[in-house]
Amino acid sequence: MAELSAIVLAAGKGTRMKSPLPKVLHPVAGVPMIQRVLRAAKNCDVQELRVVVGYGEALIRQLLEPQGVICCKQQEQKGTADAVAAADPASMSEHILIVNGDHPLLTGRQLKKCYEQFVANNCALAVVTACLEKPASLGRIVRHQGEIKAIVEVKDASAATLEINEVNTGIYFAKRETIEAYLPQIKPHNQQKEYYFTDMVSLCLESGEKVMAIEGEPAMAFGVNSQRELALAGKALFREKAFQLMDDGVVIIDPENTYIEETVQVGEGSVIYPGTYLKGSTRLDSFCVVEPNCFIQDSVVGQSVQVRMGSHLEKAKVDKNVVLGPYARLRPDTEIGEGARIGNFVEMKKVKFGAGSKANHLAYLGDAEVGTNTNIGCGVITCNYAADKKKYKTKIGNDVFVGSDSQLVAPVEVGDSSIVASGSTLTKNVPEGALAIARSRQENKEGYAEKFRGKD
Ligand code: UD1
Ligand code: MG
Repeated sequence: MAELSAIVLAAGKGTRMKSPLPKVLHPVAGVPMIQRVLRAAKNCDVQELRVVVGYGEALIRQLLEPQGVICCKQQEQKGTADAVAAADPASMSEHILIVNGDHPLLTGRQLKKCYEQFVANNCALAVVTACLEKPASLGRIVRHQGEIKAIVEVKDASAATLEINEVNTGIYFAKRETIEAYLPQIKPHNQQKEYYFTDMVSLCLESGEKVMAIEGEPAMAFGVNSQRELALAGKALFREKAFQLMDDGVVIIDPENTYIEETVQVGEGSVIYPGTYLKGSTRLDSFCVVEPNCFIQDSVVGQSVQVRMGSHLEKAKVDKNVVLGPYARLRPDTEIGEGARIGNFVEMKKVKFGAGSKANHLAYLGDAEVGTNTNIGCGVITCNYAADKKKYKTKIGNDVFVGSDSQLVAPVEVGDSSIVASGSTLTKNVPEGALAIARSRQENKEGYAEKFRGKD
C-alpha cells in the first residue's frame, strides 16, 4: 500500500481570534489545537507530518519541532494553495493528506474512514465534505448529476450557490503526482486575490482526472475561527470526557459544567461536583468526592479522599482517606499521608505531612516535614524564607502538638511527642518530649482595667 504523509496548514494569523497567540496554539480542553490535528493525522497512519507555518512561526516551531514535526515556512500568506506549495509536496510520499490546523475535533478514526474510500476509488483527488444545517462561511460543494464539479468560496458565491448546504471541510486526500501537476496552475482569480487550493477540483476535472467528494461526519467541518468557536470546541471535548468517565462509573453531577482533561484518570464511584477542573496527569482513585470549584493539576489523589469546595492542588500527592479543605491549597511537591486532615485556608508547599496528622485551620507550611499523628494548630507558620533570600527546612516529629499561632523559624526541628505552647516563636530546636514556650510571660495587674479606662 502507498504511504501517506500529511500537510497541516497553520500559517494564518487567525485574525478573528483577536489574540496575540497564533490561532492553532490556543488550547482546546488543555491541548493546543494543532496538537489535536496532528494526533488525528498520526492516528490515520501518516508517516510524515509537515506543518506550514507563518504567523507566530517561532512559537509553533518551539512546540512542534521537538516532537519531530517538520515546519515549513510560507513567506507570505497568499492562500491555501500557496501554503500547500510551501510544504514542498514533490518531496513527499505517494499519498498526501491536506488538512487545516484549526479543526480540533478531528479524529484519526474519521480520517481513516475517508482515506480508505480515497484508496478504494483510486482517485486523483478526494475532498471531504459535510452537510450542515448552517454552512455559514465554509466553501460550498457544487455538484452536477451527483458528481462534484467545483468548490466555491462564500465570497465568490452566487445567492443560489449559498443555498447549498454541503461544504468543504478543508480536508483533502491527493496523489502526489496530482498536486505536482495541477498546483502550479492555480491562479489568484477570485475576490480575495488568493491562491485557493480548492481550485484543484475544477483543474483536475478539466483534465479528465478522477475527483471524488467523500461525505464525512459534520464534526469534521468544525473549524475554529473565533473565541466563541474555541469555547464550543472545548465544551464538546469536556462533555465527551465526562460521558466516558460516567460510562466507567464516575458520578458527575453536571457534565456540562465539569472540566476534565482527557489525560486525567478518575476511579469508579468517585463523585465530581460542578465547577471543578481536573488537569494534566491528575489521577483520582475510586470513591473520592471532589466538591464544587476545585482545581487539581498533575496530582495523585488516593482512594476515598474528600476534596472539599474551592481547593487548589498542584503537583501534590494525597494518600487515601484524607480530607482536604474547604479552601485548601497544596502547592508542588506536597505529600499528604493517609487519613490526614487539611482544613480551610491551609497552604502547603514542599511538605511531607504524615499519616493521621492534622492542620485544620489557617496555616502555612513550607519546606517542612511533619510526622504522624501530629496536630498543627490554627495559624501556625513555618518561616521558611529568610532575610538572606534562602529557604530553610522545618522538621516536626510524630505525635507533636504545635499550639495555635506559633511560628517556627527555620531551620528548626521539633522532636517527637513534644508540645509547643500557643503563640510561641521557635528559633531553637525542641527536644523529644519537651514543652517549648517561646513567648513573653503574662502579667496580670489587678484592678488596673478600671484605672486604665479612667473614672467619670
Ligand atoms: C478554507 C477553504 C474552504 C473550507 C474551509 C474549511 C480555501 C480557499 N477555502 O477556507 O473551502 O470550507 O477552509 O475550514 O481553501 N492558511 C495558510 N496560508 C494561507 C492561507 C491559509 O497556512 O496563505 C491556513 C490557515 O492557517 C488555516 C487554513 O489554511 O489553518 C485555512 O485557511 P482559512 O483562511 O481559515 O480558510 P477558510 O476561509 O476557512
Ligand atoms: Mg478557517
